[in-house]
Amino acid sequence: MIPIGRPSLGDEEIGAAVSVLRSGMIAQGPKVEEFEGAFSHYCGTGYGIAMNSGTAALHTSLLALGIGPGDEVIVPSFTFFATASSVCMCRARPVFADVDEGSFNLSIDSLQEHLTQRTRAVIGVHLFGQPLPIRPVQEICEERGIHFVEDAAQAHGATYHGKRVGGFGVAGCFSFYPTKNMTTGEGGFVTTDNPVLAQRIRRIINHGQEEKYLHTGIGYNFRMSDICAAIGLEQLRKLDLFNAHRQNTAAFYNDTIRCPGIILPEETAGVEHVYHQYVVRVTDDARLTRDQLAIALRERGISTAVHYPIPLHRQPVFEKCSQKGCCSMADQLAAEVLSLPVHPLVNEEERKYISNCVNEVA
Ligand SMILES: Cc1ncc(COP(=O)(O)O)c(C=O)c1O
Repeated sequence: MIPIGRPSLGDEEIGAAVSVLRSGMIAQGPKVEEFEGAFSHYCGTGYGIAMNSGTAALHTSLLALGIGPGDEVIVPSFTFFATASSVCMCRARPVFADVDEGSFNLSIDSLQEHLTQRTRAVIGVHLFGQPLPIRPVQEICEERGIHFVEDAAQAHGATYHGKRVGGFGVAGCFSFYPTKNMTTGEGGFVTTDNPVLAQRIRRIINHGQEEKYLHTGIGYNFRMSDICAAIGLEQLRKLDLFNAHRQNTAAFYNDTIRCPGIILPEETAGVEHVYHQYVVRVTDDARLTRDQLAIALRERGISTAVHYPIPLHRQPVFEKCSQKGCCSMADQLAAEVLSLPVHPLVNEEERKYISNCVNEVA
């Protein structure tokens, strides 16, 4: 079976993890510090804080910005759950905006419709590895005096007009979950140019400690370990190669998949898409339904996935936050999308096979 996602880990990562284990310093230590410097430098930001998940990155960024009860934070409805749950973790309210048909990213019109006096921040997601329209979002946020937070969990190394994501918002939040463009096993990261925010986040992820055993706030234990950071340093060295491989596979699918009713992903002008996922839409004009196509591909040894089958405004837990009829495009996409394998371990033979199978059965 060709898996839909698989981390590419080699002797370098194994060696790096083993050498941390041998050192006896396996919790947070010098490797985390080195990784923080390397990843924030890669993203072009002055500060970086490593932690144990992308969810923690979003949660602590919002906490450090002072988001709390009574506040609203606008998030796209078509994204992974954590984009919105992190808002609830601060006891604020996520407000769901719709997405654009072509890019699957936040719709500027919908964002504007959902701004209120209580809006304190916008979380913009670079969905599937493609940067959202950053400049218009920044302009709206600047004009309103609200925060722009980047959810870059799926977009390590993606660029917007030549600059890497993570350096546009007041905070850039990354995930290093195993299927992401690079991994630390589990892990997360906040990039920022704001030293005060960086300091606050650092405190929040470490029990509210200002210095050892001096607690000036209530915090969590969201620290990253040196084992994870050592793996992350090796993965970071390979990230551009991984992304190039993903882009090549995506270009191959773009060139070779030709099926009536299957819409291939669109690339927005001025951005570099790093294809965390390669997502097609299976419309009513296709011969098979989306779910039938997924089954047919599975029978041929190809695993696919639906990212995401239920938009956030339809999730039972968000019933009370949902606005009626807010996100019709998110509804439509949830019914149509299908992700094909695009990770760096998909080889040339496999990508040809995948493309042929889609052309044959869809
Ligand atoms: C868009 C998005 N935001 C946030 C997260 C949360 O990251 P993590 O799983 O590391 O907590 C993910 C991870 O799947 C994600 O895809």
